[in-house]
Amino acid sequence: MYTSVRLFIFSSLIVCTVKAVDHNNFKTCDQSSFCRRLRATKPSDTKYELNLSNLQISDSSIESELINKEADVSLKFAITALVDSTFRIFIDEIKPLHPRYQVEGALNGEPQVARLELLDRTNNEISIKSGDNKVVIKAQPFKIEFYSGTKLVTIFNGRGLFNFEHLRAKPSTEESADADLGDQAPKESEDPGAWSENFKSHHDSKPRGPEAIGIDISFPDAHRAYGLPEHGDHFSLRTTTSGSLDPYRLYNLDVFEYELDTTMAIYGSIPVLYAHSPQHTVGVFWHNAAEMWVDITNSKDGNVVSSIVSLVSGHKQDVHIDTYFMSESGVVDLFVFLGPTMQNAAQQYAKITGAAPIPQYFALGYHQSRWNYNDEDDVQMVVEKFDEHNFPLDVMWLDIEYTDGKKYFTWDPIKFKHPEAMQLNLTATGRKLVVIIDPHIKRESGYFLHEDALANNYYVKNKDGNVYEGWCWPGSSSYLDFFDPKVREYYSGLYALDKFTGTTKDAYLWNDMNEPSVFNGPEVTMPKDCVHYGDWEHRHVHNIYALYHTMATFDGLLKRSGNQLRPFILTRGHFAGSQRYSAMWTGDNAADWSHLTYSIPMCLSEAIAGMSFCGADIGGFFKNPDEELLQRWFQTGVWLPFFRMHSHIDTKRREPYLYSTDIQNRIRNALRQRYAHLPVWYTLFHEHEVTGEPVIRPLAYHYPSDVNVFDIDNQLLVGSSILARPITESGVSSVNVYFPGGAQERWYDIEDFKPYPGSGSISIPITLDKVPVYYKGASIILRKDRLRRASTLTHDDPFTLYVALDHNNSAQGRLYIDDNESYEYRKKKYLYIQFNYKEGILTNNLVDPDASYTTSAWIERVVILGPPAGVKRAKLESKKLGVQKLQVSYDGEGRSLTIRKPAVLISDIFTITLEQ
Ligand code: GLC
Repeated sequence: MYTSVRLFIFSSLIVCTVKAVDHNNFKTCDQSSFCRRLRATKPSDTKYELNLSNLQISDSSIESELINKEADVSLKFAITALVDSTFRIFIDEIKPLHPRYQVEGALNGEPQVARLELLDRTNNEISIKSGDNKVVIKAQPFKIEFYSGTKLVTIFNGRGLFNFEHLRAKPSTEESADADLGDQAPKESEDPGAWSENFKSHHDSKPRGPEAIGIDISFPDAHRAYGLPEHGDHFSLRTTTSGSLDPYRLYNLDVFEYELDTTMAIYGSIPVLYAHSPQHTVGVFWHNAAEMWVDITNSKDGNVVSSIVSLVSGHKQDVHIDTYFMSESGVVDLFVFLGPTMQNAAQQYAKITGAAPIPQYFALGYHQSRWNYNDEDDVQMVVEKFDEHNFPLDVMWLDIEYTDGKKYFTWDPIKFKHPEAMQLNLTATGRKLVVIIDPHIKRESGYFLHEDALANNYYVKNKDGNVYEGWCWPGSSSYLDFFDPKVREYYSGLYALDKFTGTTKDAYLWNDMNEPSVFNGPEVTMPKDCVHYGDWEHRHVHNIYALYHTMATFDGLLKRSGNQLRPFILTRGHFAGSQRYSAMWTGDNAADWSHLTYSIPMCLSEAIAGMSFCGADIGGFFKNPDEELLQRWFQTGVWLPFFRMHSHIDTKRREPYLYSTDIQNRIRNALRQRYAHLPVWYTLFHEHEVTGEPVIRPLAYHYPSDVNVFDIDNQLLVGSSILARPITESGVSSVNVYFPGGAQERWYDIEDFKPYPGSGSISIPITLDKVPVYYKGASIILRKDRLRRASTLTHDDPFTLYVALDHNNSAQGRLYIDDNESYEYRKKKYLYIQFNYKEGILTNNLVDPDASYTTSAWIERVVILGPPAGVKRAKLESKKLGVQKLQVSYDGEGRSLTIRKPAVLISDIFTITLEQ
């Protein structure tokens, strides 16, 4: 129907029937005037010069004038030292013809400044220091060098490609612009699209003319670049400057049947990039909401001739990465994170844009969705079948068809006549509901939301100042202008339980199509010359439209519950900072093995860009997965943070109970693994909120100096202790698993507890039941192994501790528990417990002794992996239980030792000693 709706509406999208993305609908760099202009920038040592004579130095920043000598334009230049090895570079016109847009809403408050010391100053150079880092600013040629300790790690404008197009009065005709300015004509005016441009049948009037910015950033010594989501691509970013690849494009777009292995833009844009070498990692984040393209040149992909020359000459090839960030408008507001590790750099980024607040526990469980569950009976039937077949399930989802004619905040009066009763049925079995609310509003007279929006001027305007009209699911639609605080206030109020009647406190939200998707717009989105609140053009704010949408929804859910319950929102469009409001998923993937494969690198890229709560539609959105693919998708989804099945309206039903007993067993096992590890996920999300560390991590995050892991993105780490190598290929009987950490490291298979040393690649036999997943020696994993219908029912269930010993016979782990849903944890109502095992003795202590939470959950088992031999029994000592003897047993192969029923409360402080 997705296809047919579009075909019906637009003949121009006819190619949608072809089972692949329609490239004609989306620009290449060459079809975008600003990308073309900037990409053609030639290195120039002389164009920009910093005026060091009027330098202003304060405790934390340096300000001066940056002069474009060719055009005689002055820019304001500032560099500020921030806490945690972070610097911020700001460049804007001093007297712009129009104000230039500066992003609001993405940062997590005003960054904290740090002290900066002046080290040295000459006529042409100034050196400053903050913490262990040094910055050398050169006036002519203009260049900034960043040193981590004594090591040069990042250079701004090292290649002389920096280019800041100043705003100019629009000439009466494009030809006269060049003629009037003679030789001084800025290069951009030579581009035919600089002052207005066409794409297919769409005209962009560019009322303010060209205002693009190109930033040249190099990373001496870097081996890999990572980040810049969202792309259907590998984790490691590729060279875009040789061969046929376009630069990585960041422009939130609804790309029908998006492709893989491509730098094309899709739904989300996070302009953060990490450059990694075995010695250090640095990050850069351009706080800019306009369309952006990023060229990458990695010296390792250098041309064959230079490789041969270095081979023959015996010279070591220079390793480095050059990048060129090109944005259509805005200012330079660039954060440089000097690490020195990937862990530090990711945390430094999270400090600036915020971390995701811990979600409600249920949100980490299994979500069942399709476009659409037809009616209330259908919803009930699905839930009953899940129960009948013993599949855990936390959330049922309703797609757009639940509404009355695609009018959001209404219910179909026939199919969903008793929505509250439907939700009560769900909550009676511990489940929740999620309903979709898109940002486009049906233009139908009498529809309250449309009437309110017209009456109060809440819609985005077109370039002539009239309400903009586009096409989306409801047909003719207009788009709420979330940049207007009044609109956000109004919109958030719509989620009140007495306003969105039919919802209960257990209904949560899905904000989709918020790139925004406009079926008949240029590149399926809003024209860039549309006008938003504050007189900003859509071009200035495009990539943060979704962020503002989810911001209003989040506020609405908070208000709805009197600030009691943590909101859950899933968004498709996203930007830096979106993690503070929502989870995201990778949009409309397909039931292909390749889409399963890429779900891992796509979520890893999001995770290091702050968006840990990421997942992909299980089974693939388009098309029907075969049985093997579906099983593998479940087994893979277990190890990604957001775990939801979803599919297109034209697909066959694929709920797990529809399959043979064998397949059901495998899917149930996958679900069982997920539910058993929910305490791990929950603890990691707590730690994420506190430290900003991503919940899932690439191997390079914890093994930064092992060059063998730099390109591995079919394996991932959940926290630091679980290594998963999901099976994303068909018909395999073995796969290679890379075990990192060195010969002394141990990795234990989580099912048969077989240990593997961390000494590289090992071939692992695979069956349909087998997924290679390992616990790292030295870790203690806390699980809830009893299978129930929903996670909400497991709150007081007992824990099993898996104590995976390292070569020193020791292990540590942490567990976080609270009430799973409210903000009471912010008032210290939680438990954060550390468990330690050392030479036969297991102890625990509270990491935060000021926090407390009462729970009846207890420990039912302790399983020691790689245990000492000859243990006969164990002794428990706790204040409440006194001294107790505990039975122990080894498994057949002596790989694990189980201590039975300590029966001590998880909140009690205890010691368990193994006795020979
Ligand atoms: C978009 C979403 C998809 C949803 C559909 C209908 O294509 O990405 O998940 O099912 O819209 O709402």
